[in-house]
Amino acid sequence: MGKKLIVGNWKMHLTMQEASLYLHKLMKMISSHRDVETVVAPTILTLQSLSLQVNRRLIKLAAQNCYWRDYGNYTGEVPAAHLRGLVDYVIVGHSERRYVFQERDRDIRLKVQAALRNHLQPILCIGETLQEKTLGETADALHDQLLSGLANVTADEFDRIVIAYEPVWAIGTGESANPADVRRAIKTIRRQIQQLFGKKASTEVRILYGGSITVEKASDYLRIDGIDGLLIGGASLDAYQFIDIIEKAHNSNREGK
Ligand code: 13P
Repeated sequence: MGKKLIVGNWKMHLTMQEASLYLHKLMKMISSHRDVETVVAPTILTLQSLSLQVNRRLIKLAAQNCYWRDYGNYTGEVPAAHLRGLVDYVIVGHSERRYVFQERDRDIRLKVQAALRNHLQPILCIGETLQEKTLGETADALHDQLLSGLANVTADEFDRIVIAYEPVWAIGTGESANPADVRRAIKTIRRQIQQLFGKKASTEVRILYGGSITVEKASDYLRIDGIDGLLIGGASLDAYQFIDIIEKAHNSNREGK
């Protein structure tokens, strides 16, 4: 039973002071479990100070986004090159980036490469829209997003990639995907990875689920065959709820042994 990866995506929440208090609370209350890796993704503004405060043996940091060029005249952007050393992971291609900020496949592909070039681990988010789900096109959507996001990634680099399956219609809606559908989507993803990078890569790649996960629902998802963890939005904003989910990840590993 592999280590579970639990990532809290704070999105555009928690001010500098709130984020620091949260981290303080989390570090005080969290139990160190060898079988769970905990990551939080705060806003970009707070990353510098949180990186000084965090005990990286307990909690790792992720950025929610990055720009793909390493420097230049790109007003308002933060390059992966500047995140190097501050964070271990960077979320790439989150559906809010794809649909609210109109990021295209090419942007996402270049961001994956920029993250790898700068020694960060990309968490590549993929997932179908409601329309694609309704039309029965989930597998095609996942296939296209994987193919395009991972183009130009070498087999060696692929070791550092995490995939997050986040159905667009399940994000922040309170409606999470049916566990049987998540299991099917994970199988589809592994099959595609096998075609791209071989059998070993397809069994070893870490795949997370995200979309309206709550403390109550977490165990059902952590038990899904082939799942390696969760990417949590709303429920990660409360340190107590986030810790409850981490404990569930630890327990699910013990049950699975
Ligand atoms: P919610 O858990 O709030 O649905 O958000 C999921 C998500 O987008 C994580 O990246």
